[in-house]
Amino acid sequence: MTLNANRIREDFPILKRKIYGKPLVYLDNAATTQKPRQVIRAINDYYENYNSNVHRAVHLLSQEATKAYDDAHEKVGNLIGAKIEEVAFTKNTTESLNMVASSLGQKLKKDDEIILTRMEHHSNMVPWQQAAKRTGAAIKYAEIDGNGELDMRQMRQLIGKKTKIIAFTHISNVLGTINPAKEIIAAAKEAGAITVVDAAQSVPHMLVDVKKLDCDFLAFSAHKMLGPTGIGVLYGKEEMLENMEPMLYGGDMISEASYEDAKWNELPWKFEAGTPNVAGAVGMAAAVEYLQKIGMQNIQEHEKKLTATAMKKLRQIEGLTIYGPEAPKRGGLVAFGMDGVHTHDVSALLDLQGIAVRGGHHCAMPLAKLLGINGSTRASFYIYNTPEEVDMLADALENVAARMRNPGK
Ligand code: ALA
Repeated sequence: MTLNANRIREDFPILKRKIYGKPLVYLDNAATTQKPRQVIRAINDYYENYNSNVHRAVHLLSQEATKAYDDAHEKVGNLIGAKIEEVAFTKNTTESLNMVASSLGQKLKKDDEIILTRMEHHSNMVPWQQAAKRTGAAIKYAEIDGNGELDMRQMRQLIGKKTKIIAFTHISNVLGTINPAKEIIAAAKEAGAITVVDAAQSVPHMLVDVKKLDCDFLAFSAHKMLGPTGIGVLYGKEEMLENMEPMLYGGDMISEASYEDAKWNELPWKFEAGTPNVAGAVGMAAAVEYLQKIGMQNIQEHEKKLTATAMKKLRQIEGLTIYGPEAPKRGGLVAFGMDGVHTHDVSALLDLQGIAVRGGHHCAMPLAKLLGINGSTRASFYIYNTPEEVDMLADALENVAARMRNPGK
């Protein structure tokens, strides 16, 4: 089955917007995606009909809200092949990764090693840097080759007796590279290291099964997969979460408390202190349902086609450099630079044509430095993008490049 982007577009009210009188071409999906009516309605329905706190009261509203909140964990678990106990809701990917880094970080000792890759987003780098500083552990980086792919030989050489944690992005938010997660995780297992996967750019775009991957932890956000902002997921293997200290303490994460001490609640509630984002959970569940109806494989196929077309067309533009691997080895995004034009200028000129892209370092400053650039312009695709929009992007970029080559015209 192929995905019908034009039919899907009907579900997204925002896609009818005009930007400076032009139709909106939304290509900033790696930053956040738009929301379908089904998600907006589910959130409205919660606030209009059963808004209440969860896990606390016996009244009907609370029962309904609790059921929806718990069901959301089950639906998200179903998406990634996890049990409800293994799915903790957080604020976003960043919070999930901070939780793991701060908890695992407490167990690190001097000279233990954490392996990261050179293509990490700040949120899967800075928390580990801080954990290393606190404990005297060392960070080692897996290098990337000229195609923007991981140098697996060098990475294997890094993995050894001292390796305690390997944290890596599944799909790079800049290079688009799909990293060989299974291979990395298998190599980590051999060394007895814990694996942490930043799946912010993969779970929304492809079938990710945590049991098949066999990762210990995996993090992603709802807002990059049609859901609302302010809610994300930390998956952890049950035994990992059992042994992990919570980062936040408070209501609902306690099973018993005295004036002196407290015991933690069952999984996953042990990691969800305080009144949670119930509306966010309801919205995320609706988003998961929406995506599963389309089928994650169909979504990946659709994006692959758009990306291949974009790469082909953008390659023909003089002065444009694309970063990262060839289309089959990347997710649905293309970051590029244009000779002599600042990425913010490229983004601003595209915006005037109604085309929304992101320019800058994409929260991966060290990677930009490594590539020898200040930043890049990134077009990122999703289920509602069409081949016509890719053509519009390519035409608009050709115009920008031509104007820069002949500024007088
Ligand atoms: N991490 C998101 C991005 O790459 C915000 O744009």
